[in-house]
Amino acid sequence: MSSVFELIRRRAMCRRYQERAVPVAHLNRILEAARRAPSAGHSQGVRFGVTTDPVRRQAIADAFGEQEYLAKGFQPWLSVAPVHIVACLSEASYEERYAAPDKSGGPSDWPVSYPVMDVGQALMTLYLAAEEYGLSCGYLGPHAGPDLVEMLGLPQEWRFMGLITMGYRLGPTRKTRSIKRGWREFDEVVRWI
Ligand SMILES: Cc1cc2nc3c(=O)[nH]c(=O)nc-3n(C[C@H](O)[C@H](O)[C@H](O)COP(=O)(O)O)c2cc1C
Repeated sequence: MSSVFELIRRRAMCRRYQERAVPVAHLNRILEAARRAPSAGHSQGVRFGVTTDPVRRQAIADAFGEQEYLAKGFQPWLSVAPVHIVACLSEASYEERYAAPDKSGGPSDWPVSYPVMDVGQALMTLYLAAEEYGLSCGYLGPHAGPDLVEMLGLPQEWRFMGLITMGYRLGPTRKTRSIKRGWREFDEVVRWI
C-alpha cells in the first residue's frame, strides 16, 4: 500500500490512456471508497453512473465534441479512456435528510453549497483510491457537453456534475497551460491565525 502523501504527489489529471481494461473488482473497490466520503449530515447525495462499454464511451466522446478536439491536434481522450464515470448529485437526499427531526435548516439556508462540496470530496477520494491501483483520472466539466443524465437515461433527479475518465496513463503527464502556471506559494495559501 502507498502512503497517502505518495498518492497525492502522484495524482494528476490524465487525458491520455492505454486501451487496457480496468479490472471490475478494482473499479468497484474505488467506487466503494468514494461512497465512503464525508457528506453534510451524512446525506450521501453523490451518485455515480459508470460505463466501460465502448459504444457508449464513443457516444459520450462524440457528444463532447471529440472530433473538434482531435482537429486541434490533441490525441483522443474520452473515446480511449476505458472507464467513464458520470458524477452526479442527488439534491433530494439533502432535502430529505434535513427534513428529519434531528436537523434544522436545509440547503436553502446554507451559506455555501454543501452538496457541491460533497461531490468534490467524493471525487478526490475516488482519484486517490484509483491511484492506489495505478489508475489515473481526468475530469471534464458539464459546461463542455450535453446533460449526460438526460442522454444516458440516468435517474431524472440526479444532477450532472462532471464526467470522470479513468484508466492506465499513456506516456508522461502533459503539461497543460494551467499546470505551467506553477503552484502558488505556501504562504499565500496557508495563513496561521
Ligand atoms: C472543478 C474542476 C473543473 C475542471 N475542469 C476541467 C475541464 O473541463 N477539462 C479539463 O481538461 N480539465 C479540467 N480540470 C482539471 C484541472 O485543469 C486540473 O485539475 C488542474 O490544472 C491541476 O492539474 P492536476 O489535477 O493535473 O494536478 C478541472 C478540475 C477541477 C477541479
